[in-house]
Amino acid sequence: SIPVDNVQALASKDLKDVPVRYIRPEIESEEVLVDESLQIPVIDISKLVAAGQPGYDDELAKLHVACRDWGFFQLVNHGISEAIDAMKKVTEEFFKLPLEEKMKYAQLPNTIEGYGQAFVVSDEQKLDWGDMLFLLPLPIPLRNLIFWPQNPNSFRETFDKYSNKLHGVSRKLFNLISINLGIEPEAFSKMFDFENCTQGIRMNYYPPCPEARKVLGLTPHSDATGLTLLVQVNEVQGLQIKKNKKWVPIKPLPGSIIVNIGDVLEIMSNGEYSSIEHRAVVDFEKERLSIAAFHSPGLEAMVGPLPELVKEKMPKYKTIDFHEYLKLIINSKLDGKCLIDHMKIQ
Ligand code: SIN
Ligand code: FE2
Repeated sequence: SIPVDNVQALASKDLKDVPVRYIRPEIESEEVLVDESLQIPVIDISKLVAAGQPGYDDELAKLHVACRDWGFFQLVNHGISEAIDAMKKVTEEFFKLPLEEKMKYAQLPNTIEGYGQAFVVSDEQKLDWGDMLFLLPLPIPLRNLIFWPQNPNSFRETFDKYSNKLHGVSRKLFNLISINLGIEPEAFSKMFDFENCTQGIRMNYYPPCPEARKVLGLTPHSDATGLTLLVQVNEVQGLQIKKNKKWVPIKPLPGSIIVNIGDVLEIMSNGEYSSIEHRAVVDFEKERLSIAAFHSPGLEAMVGPLPELVKEKMPKYKTIDFHEYLKLIINSKLDGKCLIDHMKIQ
C-alpha cells in the first residue's frame, strides 16, 4: 500500500482547508436518514446461555431476524465489560502518545499490521480521515509482536485478554447462528475456533475535522470477515449503516458490543444472511475512537457456501481457499461490497 500522511498530526495543525484528497463531493448530496424508529436490534446474550432457559427461544428468533434482515445488531449482557473497559483505556492512551512514540509500531512496506492508515492502493483514491493500529492476535503462532505497543506498559497484556474474551463471544455467536441456520455447530468449528481462526483487531482514531461533513473517517465498505465485534471507545457517535439505500446512524447503548455479519458469513450462508455496507463519519470538534475485532477463517479454510445449505438450491457464490480470498482483500480498495461482487456466481 501507498504511505500517506498521519491524520492526527494533520488535524493538530489547525488547518483552514482540509487537503483535497480527503474531500468527497458526493457525500454532501447524499441523504442521511435520521429516524429514531430505525435502530438495529438489541440481543440479550444472557438469555442465550442454554436451550430451555426463560426467553431463550424468543431471543434466538430475534437473533435470526437480526442476522437476516439487518446484518447488524447490538449485544448486551455479554459479561466481558471489564476486559472491554481496560482495552478502551489502553487504546486511548496509545493514541495520545507523541507521534514518534506511535511510529515505533508503524506499518512496514507490504504489511497490513501496525500503526498507520488502511488500504491505500492508488494515488487517486480518496483518503479516510483517521489513523489506525491494526494487529493480528490470532492464531497465536502468527503474532507479530514488533507491532504490539509496549507503551502504555499494560497494553500487551490487556490486548491479549481482550482478544481472548472477544473470541469467546464470537464463538458463542457462531454456535447460535449454526442453530438458526439449521447446520451442525461443527460446520463453523474448523474455521472459527481459537486454534483455527484468524482474528484481526483494528483500533481506529478519528480526529476532529473542520470540514467534518465533507470527509469520511472510513470509506463505505462491508467487512470481509465472518463476524465483526465493534466497540465504541468514547461517547462520540459516527457509525452509519446502509439500509434501504440511505445511511442510518447507529446509537450504541453504553457498554454494548455492535456485531455485524461479514462477507464470509454471507457467502457461507449462501446469502441467507447478508453483510451490510457501513461507514464512519467524523465530528467537527471531538475525536472519536472505536475498536473492531474481525473473526475470520483460518488460512487452511475454504470460503464458499456450506454444502448443507445448497443441497436443494444453487450455490450463489464461488468457493475459493482463504489464501486466494486474502489476496482479493489485500488488492481491493475497500469499496462497497466489492469482495462479494468477485465471489458471486452471476
Ligand atoms: C469499522 O467499520 O471497522 C469501524 C467503524 C467505526 O469506527 O465505528
Ligand atoms: Fe467495517
